[in-house]
This record gives sequence, structure tokens and C-alpha cells, in this order.
Amino acid sequence: MPPPDFLPALLRPELAELHAYTPVAGQFAVRLDANESPPLLSAEARAALARAVAPEDWGRYPDARMLELREAIAARCGAEPDEILAGAGSDEVIATLLTALSRPRPGAPAASVVTVTPTFVMYRLSARARGLRAVEVPLDPSWDLDVAGLVRAVELARPNVVFIASPNNPTGALMSRDRLEAVLAAAQDALVIVDEAYIDFAPHDQLALRRTYPNVAVLRTLSKIGLASLRVGWLVGARELVAELDKVRQPYNVPVPSQRAAAFALRELDGELRSAAATVVSERERLARELAGLGLEVAPSHANFLWVGTRRPAGEVFEALAARGVLVRSFHAAGGRLARRLRITVGLREENDRLLAEMAACA
Ligand SMILES: Cc1ncc(COP(=O)(O)O)c(C=O)c1O
Repeated sequence: MPPPDFLPALLRPELAELHAYTPVAGQFAVRLDANESPPLLSAEARAALARAVAPEDWGRYPDARMLELREAIAARCGAEPDEILAGAGSDEVIATLLTALSRPRPGAPAASVVTVTPTFVMYRLSARARGLRAVEVPLDPSWDLDVAGLVRAVELARPNVVFIASPNNPTGALMSRDRLEAVLAAAQDALVIVDEAYIDFAPHDQLALRRTYPNVAVLRTLSKIGLASLRVGWLVGARELVAELDKVRQPYNVPVPSQRAAAFALRELDGELRSAAATVVSERERLARELAGLGLEVAPSHANFLWVGTRRPAGEVFEALAARGVLVRSFHAAGGRLARRLRITVGLREENDRLLAEMAACA
């Protein structure tokens, strides 16, 4: 059916360049495409979570201030509850902060964000959907920050927000601390978001940067450590920032079952979550060695996935693996140096073995 006549004139022009998020459909024996955690929680932990979720009264809205959840998050991050903004996944937190921080700089037609490429696509998509410009600076050949390029982009674009994921998605690399600080020094009048979605798989975090740089906020999520179904993510930042973002946040954005399960998991399941992450890390290292043994180039990863260079065009390897029931993520459509790269989420041991067997047959 053609779109109704009235619609095009009402839509934001930027929507013409966006597509709805549609994960690959179909049945796959092994799905290693979405950076979720494999099912490693014990039966006891799963039963305890199921008991924790039920609201006392199904007829009432959630706690709009999310006090219990924000206290549990704050305790985990060494922060105060009023330094935490929680959302339906960190995706929602990104959307909230881009809605709030969208005032164009004097003389500029629109506000901008600066980020790197390749990186998590929601920074750009969420910015474009709100009419902000998105400037993407390519990572250097070792997938680390190109400081000179970023400093230039910050000077030219005068962004409101700079997004740096560390470990980065899809490359798995932690950004060097000295390079990150050089970017921070250049972007002192912007909000710099250090996205630590994958920090549970890395040796150290950057939360301490908040103490030195008041313009830094850190993003975290439960999605990568076995609780993606809850859709709970958060920002840790200055209380003045959180108070402003709170004006934009929908009052009941995180449902009761998610608030309760997340608070319970943070308080009571810390040991389980950490040991599941440690299992993923040891599987990641094994998978990396075995893939390298197949002659593939594997970038050092501090996340729950690997960034793998293929000899054949990545699109062909992706299709061949999918035909054999193993779904991974390919970035070949972007071309250039991504044309021979796959991102492979670390799964259960048997899923990783299946991937290795199929990869040996089609890489
Ligand atoms: C770097 C990064 N940040 C944030 C997210 C979004 O996480 P959430 O599930 O909390 O929205 C992802 C998800 O893939 C990610 O890779």
C-alpha cells in the first residue's frame, strides 16, 4: 500500500536514511550474532529471579524514581543513587540523553555528536532520529582511538556529546587510557560518554575518569551478562546531569518485573554473574586460539565476542556459516576494511565447537 499522502510532509527528513532494527530471521542451531550471554545461570539463580520479579500489586505503576534499583546499581558502581539514570536498556539512556542534549551550538544549524567507526550503531541512529548530526572518525589500524582525527572532529563539529565504547563493539578492543584522556582534554565542553557495556569481560574499567573529568559519564547494562531479557541499562554521571535527563525520561520507563529482577540480581547474584563472565572469558580465549589455528586473524578482545579477519570476503563466509546453521554477524556491507571481518559472540562450549567445525569447513 502506498504511504498515506499526509505522512511524508510530517516525518523528520532524517528518517529517510534510517531503517527499522530487524535482526536476521530464521531458525539457526547456533546464534552467535547478538553479543548476548550464553545461558550460564544456575537453576537456583533462575528460580530465585523468577520469584523476585512478581509485583506485590499488578495493578500499580512501577516506582517512578526506581529507588531500589538505583540503590543497587549505585552500590555496584561506587556511586550515589542520584548519580544513576536507569533505562530500558542503555539504548533508552542514549535516546534520553540525546533528546536532552540537543541544543545547537551558536551559529550551527543542528547539534552534533562525535564518535568512532566502526562502533555501536545506536549512537548514530539515535542521534539522526533526533535531528543531530553524527560525525564518525575511523579507528586506527589497531582499532584504537585516532587521537588527531578525534581532536580535529571535536574542534570542527563542536559536538554536544562524544561517544566512546570501551571495550568497543564490534572490535572488542579496550581504548588506551592515554588516548581516551587526550580526547577528553579536547572535548571539555561536551559530554563524553564512555560506554562500558562489555566491561564485565575486561581487566579494568574507566569509572575513575569521572572523578577527574566532570564531563564524563559511564554507560553500563545488564544485557551482556545474562539478563538481556530485562532490558535494564544505566548511566553513572554527575547528579546535575542526571537531574536534567530525568526531566526527559518517561516516568515509568522500566517495568516492575525488570526493576525487581535487576535489583535482586545486582544484590544477590553478583557471584554467579561474575563466574558466568569468567567462563565466557575463558571460552573467548580458547575460541580465539582455535580460530587463529585455522589461519584466521583474531583481534585481541576484552568483550564477549571476537573480531575475526577472514581470508575470503566476509559476506561469503557469513552465508556459508548460516547455511550450516551458525549465525554470526557480518559487517561486509560497510565495505573497506570491514569487508573481511566477522563478529562472533562467544557461546556455550558446545556452540563454540560447532562454530569451529563449520568454520574449518568454510573459511
Ligand atoms: C557498546 C554497546 N552499548 C550499548 C548496547 C545496548 O545495550 P542495551 O541492551 O542495554 O540497550 C550495546 C548492545 O549491543 C552495545 O554493544
